[in-house]
Amino acid sequence: MTIIAPSILSADFSKLGEDVRSAEQAGGDWIHIDIMDGHFVPNITFGPLVVESIRSYTKLPFDVHLMIEKPELYIAAFAKAGADRITVHAEACVHLHRVIHMIKELGLPAGVAINPGTPVSAVESVLEDVDLVLLMTVNPGFGGQSFIPQSAARLRQLRGMLQERGLTDMHVQVDGGINAETAAIVREAGANVLVAGNYVYGSPDRAAAVASLR
Ligand code: DX5
Ligand code: ZN
Repeated sequence: MTIIAPSILSADFSKLGEDVRSAEQAGGDWIHIDIMDGHFVPNITFGPLVVESIRSYTKLPFDVHLMIEKPELYIAAFAKAGADRITVHAEACVHLHRVIHMIKELGLPAGVAINPGTPVSAVESVLEDVDLVLLMTVNPGFGGQSFIPQSAARLRQLRGMLQERGLTDMHVQVDGGINAETAAIVREAGANVLVAGNYVYGSPDRAAAVASLR
């Protein structure tokens, strides 16, 4: 079963609560929340206060994607604000294993993300510690970018690594440039959690957009 996670990066921030609710009404499974610090990525979004302010607008799990340096300093704050799972970038963590265990000690499932230019092998040593691997399918920072075609081969490589280790329950997430056409490519290559921002929020019929990704 494919999990669809609408990304509120493409929502209207002046009515964020309503747009979060609309993602649930459209049939989304998780709410994907992009946290950017202007250092790890060249854009800034928002912090735990805003996450807390939208928590009551939906019952869907909050899938928090931290694109920030030193994520260890903010993990507890996002957990308290209502995150149901937290994903950190391997590139942003000097002590990746330690940071993943900090998330788990707070009682949340942990994910590890990598950018398109990072070898898939960068997640290898923590595969036993996470329940989700996020392969970025664009360079993170902005919504509405184009899917990077080499991502399909990277997904297959990751699926192979997981199979070898018997980790077949792992969530394999993709994020960036996902639409009906690229969704078919990534699902075929082994992704089961699809993040979509622009495609869902930019569509006049959000429910139809979500359905077309499954
Ligand atoms: C990219 C973010 C994504 C973004 C995807 O830096 O991590 O979650 O919202 O947006 P689309 O689906 O518009 O490419
Ligand atoms: Zn994201």
